[in-house]
Amino acid sequence: MRLFRSFRLDSANQCLWRGEHRVPLTPKAFDVLRYLVEHSGRLVTQDELLEALWPETYVNPELIKKYILGIRKVLGDQHDKPVYIETLPKRGYQFIAPVTDHVTEDPQDPSYDVISNMVGRSGPVSELQAAFKKALRGQRQIIFVAGEPGIGKTTLVDSFHQRASHEAKVRTARGQCVEGFGGKEPYYPMLDALGQLTRNPDSGAVVQTLARRAPTWLIQFPSLVKPEQREALHREILGATRERMVREICEALESLSSEAPILLVFEDLHWVDPSTLDLISALARRREEAKLMLVCTYRPVDMILSNSPLKGLKQDLQLHNLCVEIALERLPEPAIAEYLATEFPKASLPPGLANFIYRHSEGNPLFMAAIVQDMMKNGSIVHDDEEWRLTRPLETIDPGVPQSLQQMLEVQFERLNAPEQRVLEAGSVEGEHFSAWAIANALAEKIDHIEDLCDELAARQQVIKAIGIQELPNGLVAAHYEFRHSLYRQAIYRRLSSGRRARLHRAIAERLKTLSGPGRRDVASKIAFHFESGHEYEQAARYLLLAAENAAGRLAYRDCIQVLLHALKLTSKIEAYLGAELETQVLEFIGDAHYALGAMAESAAAYEAAASRAGQAGLKGAQVSALSSMVRPFGLIDPDRGIAAIGRAVEVTRSMQDPLLLARMEMLAAGCRLLYDSWREQDAVVCQSAHDQLKELGDKGTPPFHKMIYAHVQALQGNYIEALELFERGIPTLNQATSLMEHFFALSGKTIALLRMGRLGYVLQIVRDGREMAEKNGNDPWLFNFREAWLRMLTLDFEGSARVCEAILQTETAYPVSQPQTIARIARGYTAIAKGFTELDKGQNDRAIELFNQVRDPQTTPKFFLHWNWRMTAQLGVSEAWLQSGNLEKASFEADGFLHAALETADPHLQALAWEMQTRVAIANEDWGRAEDCVHKGLEIVDRFEVPVAGWQVHATAWRLYQSRQQYAEAESHRERAQADIFKIADSFPKGEPLRESFLSAAPIARIFSPSAERRRAADG
Ligand SMILES: Nc1ncnc2c1ncn2[C@@H]1O[C@H](COP(=O)(O)OP(=O)(O)O)[C@@H](O)[C@H]1O
Ligand SMILES: [Mg+2]
Repeated sequence: MRLFRSFRLDSANQCLWRGEHRVPLTPKAFDVLRYLVEHSGRLVTQDELLEALWPETYVNPELIKKYILGIRKVLGDQHDKPVYIETLPKRGYQFIAPVTDHVTEDPQDPSYDVISNMVGRSGPVSELQAAFKKALRGQRQIIFVAGEPGIGKTTLVDSFHQRASHEAKVRTARGQCVEGFGGKEPYYPMLDALGQLTRNPDSGAVVQTLARRAPTWLIQFPSLVKPEQREALHREILGATRERMVREICEALESLSSEAPILLVFEDLHWVDPSTLDLISALARRREEAKLMLVCTYRPVDMILSNSPLKGLKQDLQLHNLCVEIALERLPEPAIAEYLATEFPKASLPPGLANFIYRHSEGNPLFMAAIVQDMMKNGSIVHDDEEWRLTRPLETIDPGVPQSLQQMLEVQFERLNAPEQRVLEAGSVEGEHFSAWAIANALAEKIDHIEDLCDELAARQQVIKAIGIQELPNGLVAAHYEFRHSLYRQAIYRRLSSGRRARLHRAIAERLKTLSGPGRRDVASKIAFHFESGHEYEQAARYLLLAAENAAGRLAYRDCIQVLLHALKLTSKIEAYLGAELETQVLEFIGDAHYALGAMAESAAAYEAAASRAGQAGLKGAQVSALSSMVRPFGLIDPDRGIAAIGRAVEVTRSMQDPLLLARMEMLAAGCRLLYDSWREQDAVVCQSAHDQLKELGDKGTPPFHKMIYAHVQALQGNYIEALELFERGIPTLNQATSLMEHFFALSGKTIALLRMGRLGYVLQIVRDGREMAEKNGNDPWLFNFREAWLRMLTLDFEGSARVCEAILQTETAYPVSQPQTIARIARGYTAIAKGFTELDKGQNDRAIELFNQVRDPQTTPKFFLHWNWRMTAQLGVSEAWLQSGNLEKASFEADGFLHAALETADPHLQALAWEMQTRVAIANEDWGRAEDCVHKGLEIVDRFEVPVAGWQVHATAWRLYQSRQQYAEAESHRERAQADIFKIADSFPKGEPLRESFLSAAPIARIFSPSAERRRAADG
């Protein structure tokens, strides 16, 4: 702490104090001041400042001039007779006020208690202190400070904050909730506070903790992330959810608090956004030790009027003793007397003055302070002969005092001159904080003029205070101001006619618009708010779309949907054509947000609404986009409707003369039919030729989903390497609403290719990583569970596969369950077959056939992604069961059916298995010629494609066939190749992996490894 005159420079908290007030300099201005103070008494050149404070960027030296000007303003320094900063023309600056070092940890120290004129709050102060003591011992504390406007919440919390700041090593930060647009910005106060922590001198530790524990938060501060780390960070948080984001910040705060206690202040929670409430709730409920205190202020009446969920949260926390509420009462008369005594030391004021103020203000401190101030302004209280006195008897002052606080504030405003009033009016339109830069435009005046006028008002402590200058993203710097109390702003704003209000809002919006750019999405909701208030609904809706993107970037999809629904309301007020265009955009975004939340029905409904709105308005491009989006959610819940939608998209595209779009749609439509409906040669051709055409047209913009569909089609034709490459590239690197599902889709395809290729160990790794990721993110790991079930089938662990599926079916999942249901049936079918085999129990075979037939029956098993693959697998199972039970006629009938179906596809795995089954049926029929033909067909396929799962089965059957034909050398070579395929599969698992062991010891495998046993069996049979 460094002291100069009445100021204290607080390096630990990066702020400047003056007596009772925190002088909220902007971070850069603070740095400039600190540098000058730390090098006081000597010349500091401009170059030195630039070197020290902007080491890596080029900065216009004019900027420094602006900062110095701003600092002078808040210090109240005069250019002609400076007492703080002297300009040495052409050379630089010198800090000339005497500076002393000050270290205090002693609460008795007078400079410790900075808000010296706070009265009547000893109760709340000791409550806060008691809570703080507990926090210092590791018991987290959540405190709500409640009370009407002007009751002194900010004053109390400020005073407490200052005390805490003096405690060694306490990290403090404040976050402000903002009226109007603030409720639409997820985590507004937390990001505000975190921003301060990352600018403190020990910000390194904070940034490191965020990187380690809270990447979803770090990414909200792009300037803290090095460009080369950005992609990795995006990947790291892919698929993250709101739950993860909340958990991460809790963990980060807890971890930070183990180094130094943390005090957070969130102000004006009656305007809070829902995400921040989630965060507070989580912070309050976690049980980990944390030296953490969160103090929140709010106005109960506004909370109720705005129907804020804060009410429910607070009640719940109170019920569970997880928070403390401090309700501030109005000041009693003696407290007012005390206030007068501190404000006017050495005074001869009449004893009735306290009662007079008490009666008028009814103990509201803001009202009280305003009356006192007014009496000084109008000369009722004067300071002469070294003392304060009243110039008139109280009775004559009495009738002039306004009835209400509102009127009081209006009276104060009316005393100002016309230009001052105009400036304040424009300021009140911008908000509690306003900048000379924004309102200069609204008033068509010079910035300097506005700044002079505002500085003058601030210096007279009227209505506003200066909060320093700020660097705008466009390189300009401008002074910013704040209303002394939000009631001042409200009083002034309310006086404006609706026409003038709207005009000012529009002008401010236009000005703020120039600030919005890629890096500044956070101003979007503010701009939207001003456009809406200025009745410019089209612009408002466009900026709301940006604000929604912003919310999605904070993983706050529910908030994002709220913002979009608001935008939707505005679109109805816009001219028909533009309105329709915006409406479809908004609806499609709503679809994306629901999709990200896993709410597939809602997502599909929003896309459908977008498509029909676009269709009505003749917006073909938008209609096609919405129709093609429908296939994503419908693919999961109702594939036929998805296929119908994409068919419609193709139709509409045909009338558009856009070959590129047509090729995209045709590829997508054909691909979807192949994957979700059934495999048809014709569709495979369309899909391929559309893809080739896209390549020819040099298409760069094919959406990832389309590409993933195409990659799946590749995988199902045995083009595994190409497919894997496409899936790898398809894993998104940027987080957007649809990224999670894109990611899942790419992983899903990757695992399918790997399963076909027998790289089961790799799939198991993906399943485990995916589950871990899902757990971290708070997602449902459905896809990974599905894949594990599939994987276990291929390792012949039918029991295990069925168990995984049945576990999925027991838990509540928003995702469709056809797939696990199907796998469970098939797995149970195979278990039954195995039993039938060992126990010669005919009943088991019947049971197996029944289960397989359930899978084949479209009534019992509706369509789902790749359902045909499973229905064919079930048919294979049926032929297996008939074969085993000795019903060769039926076995042969089903095996033919399976072969026929497999040959309709282009899938080498299924086709090889179909020939293998044919071979076995032929062997059973002792039709040796047919058996040899069939086995050759199978062998030809497994030689050509990397399909070891089918491979070992075909070779094993070939081995048996040649044994029966007594061609032992030929037989043995197939046995060896079966073994080789088995090892290929087994060795894809790490050594010691239980699945590897169970696969190798499964009965059908064991028989291949122990040919003598097999020979015996053949001889016995
Ligand atoms: N306990 C107090 N003692 C003296 N003055 C106070 C006290 N509380 C508030 N005030 C005065 O009232 C004004 C408004 O108080 P503030 O803390 O901003 O109210 P709130 O945050 O509850 O709306 C302050 O600027 C200060 O002048
Ligand atoms: Mg306040």
